[in-house]
This record gives sequence, C-alpha cells and structure tokens, in this order.
Amino acid sequence: MDASKPIGIFDSGIGGLTVAHAIKTRLPNESIIYFGDTAHLPYGDKSEAAVQAYSVKIADVLLQKGCKVIVIACNSASSAAYELLKEYVGKKALVVNVIDPMVEYVGIHYRNARIGLIGTRRTIDSHVYQDKISELDQQIELCSLPTPLLVPMIEEGFFNNRISDEIIEAYLGDPVISDIEAIILGCTHYPLIRKQVVAYYNEKVHVLDSSDITAVYLKDLLEANHLLSAEQSGDDVFLVSDYTRSFEASTKLFFRERVELIKYALWE
Ligand code: DGL
Repeated sequence: MDASKPIGIFDSGIGGLTVAHAIKTRLPNESIIYFGDTAHLPYGDKSEAAVQAYSVKIADVLLQKGCKVIVIACNSASSAAYELLKEYVGKKALVVNVIDPMVEYVGIHYRNARIGLIGTRRTIDSHVYQDKISELDQQIELCSLPTPLLVPMIEEGFFNNRISDEIIEAYLGDPVISDIEAIILGCTHYPLIRKQVVAYYNEKVHVLDSSDITAVYLKDLLEANHLLSAEQSGDDVFLVSDYTRSFEASTKLFFRERVELIKYALWE
C-alpha cells in the first residue's frame, strides 16, 4: 500500500458525501474517489444479500483504482457488508465503516448511559450497533427506532422547514427512545437535520453524527499504518452508477460544494 494513493469512499447515493466532506476537512492532503450507487439506492430497504452484492462490486472498482483504504460511508452498507468486505479485500486495502468509530466514541463518553439510535430499517434491524455496544460491556442501554421517512424527506430538500420539523418531532416523540442522554444519527443523510434534532431536545440531549467521528478515526488509522499522504495528492473523483441532473444538484447539500458526477455503470 502506498500513502499517495486515494481514499475510496462509497455510499448508496449522495448521503455519504457528508462523510466525504468531513474526511476532506480533517485530511486536506488526501485525494478521494467517491462512489455513489445511485442506481441501487436506497440501501435502507434492501435485503442484506443485495447490499452485500453491491458493496463487493463497488469495492472492486475502488481497488482497481488503487485505493489504499475503503470507507463504507453508509450505515446500511456498514451493517450489512463490513465483515464480508474486510474478508474480500484482505490485504489489498484497509476497510473502515461508520459504525465502529461511533461505537468506540460512545464507549468512551457514555458509560452507564441510556442512548438512542435512529436509522434506516436495514441498519436498525441488523442489530449491529446493539451487538457492538453490548460487547463493550459498559452498561450502555441502547434504544433504537427505524426512521425510514427521513432519507426521502431529506433527498427531496425537506429539512430546516416546518414539515420536516413535524416529521422529526413525530419520530423523536416515540416513547421507545425517551429519556436518553444522547442520540446517534445512524444514517449518513442525517447530519443535514442535526440542527433540528438538537432543537427538538432543547440542547439537553447530545446529538452524535458519524461524519466527523469517522474522519478522526480514519486519520488515526492511516497515521498508525504510515499511510497519511505527505502532500496534496491528485484530484478528487465522484462516480455514480446512475446519473441525473437532480443527483448533481443535490451534491451541494451534502458536500457543501457542487461536484461533477461521472457515470460509472456497475453492471454493463
Ligand atoms: N446513506 C444510507 C445510510 O447511511 C441511507 C440511504 C439509503 O437507504 O440508501 O444508511
């Protein structure tokens, strides 16, 4: 592995750009190859087997392009395909997901606490957060709620407005996730509604999103493996398995700057 090689990042679509943005902010010398599987989104409602098949296909593309690390910037794919990808990729690249960095963070900061988790059905039903947090053995009580309406709502540009406030209120008011000290935003789209969630709880509940936590984790991992790029290393590339203008327009919401999307079909 060579430190000057790019960081590969993938998601079901453009939501993972929140993670890509955090990585670029923490690691400005690194170049990234982002892959958004827009042909198959959403992953949140797909079977585990389908998400695994897409993830392996995308890993092949990122390996072909010489990536030194593959970041699974999607909770649904992290919960369905991380173990498989790690085995599949072997020594060719490092593999990082967005769940382990969060679990590690929660383990350090929320011992004995009751915390909430919201995410797609795929993520919540997988129980991966629950299993990993239980393994910490730190008496953390995790309560989870699937919130499937939030991804389409955000993709349609409904956030920071009254309608989205009401939907968020309806979900967060569910007794299943009451009396919590912190809430994990377990989906890479949710940083866009972070402010609204903070406001809902009147700043009394800590709102944790995985984008920056994953970027810090990645930085430490690259450093430990002597894989941090010493100097600005090449252009960023943004690939999507299906292209529409509306995808390109939405990238600005998630990456904070407009990017040029290049179509790259996964299956011919
Ligand atoms: N980005 C995905 C996640 O973090 C959500 C979008 C989808 O369902 O594909 O779970």
